[in-house]
Amino acid sequence: MKQGLGPQRKKAFELLKKHLGERKKKTPHEILEIGIGDGANLEYYPENSSLTALDMNESFEPYLKENLKKYPEIRYRRKVIAMAEKMVGVEDSSVDVVVCTYVMCSAKSVPSVLKEVKRVLKPGGKFLFLEHVAYPKSDWNYLLQVLAAPLWRNYFCGCNLTRRTGEEIKKTGFSNVDIETTYITTVWLYIRPKVLGIATK
Ligand SMILES: C[S@@+](CC[C@H](N)C(=O)[O-])C[C@H]1O[C@@H](n2cnc3c(N)ncnc32)[C@H](O)[C@@H]1O
Repeated sequence: MKQGLGPQRKKAFELLKKHLGERKKKTPHEILEIGIGDGANLEYYPENSSLTALDMNESFEPYLKENLKKYPEIRYRRKVIAMAEKMVGVEDSSVDVVVCTYVMCSAKSVPSVLKEVKRVLKPGGKFLFLEHVAYPKSDWNYLLQVLAAPLWRNYFCGCNLTRRTGEEIKKTGFSNVDIETTYITTVWLYIRPKVLGIATK
């Protein structure tokens, strides 16, 4: 999943930087990254970031810490072991940015994750998302996704090929959703359609 995805990550974080603008140059950006894994996004973080790392899988932290050594400018505040559907230990309206990349495909409930994202963001806070999604129903490749989905889910730890995460985000009641769909050809056809963007609370 990681191969060929760098340009999309970069693009999503460039969009985030545009949204953050000049605000908070001195105060750190409180960032909560959900489903952080080993921290594939760290290299794209904005200046002056303070990180809370959340993942349901406890074993992520040694890999993340190793990776963080390359980015001493990022302040690592703490880890939270929790489901993104119920972020116990993350307070209401406490973070400036929530980052979520390639997590919604395997979440148990996308609406519950989005509700939690809204809860923990400060008013005006930004939700950065980058996810692979379903092709439009009129596209033959959607049929391929539907056929491959059961095997894919078993093989790739519950990853769903046919989610419409972009639609879910638009339904969540953010004040603004800046979203784009891209199809990059450097990855497998099954996970080519991607939504990336920034939703503002
Ligand atoms: C495919 S990896 C993506 C890792 C990283 N975000 C990236 O872009 O490379 C999915 C990560 O999300 C975590 N994860 C999946 N579902 C989750 C959930 N419902 N709550 C919290 N973490 C979750 C997994 O443990 C894993 O670390």
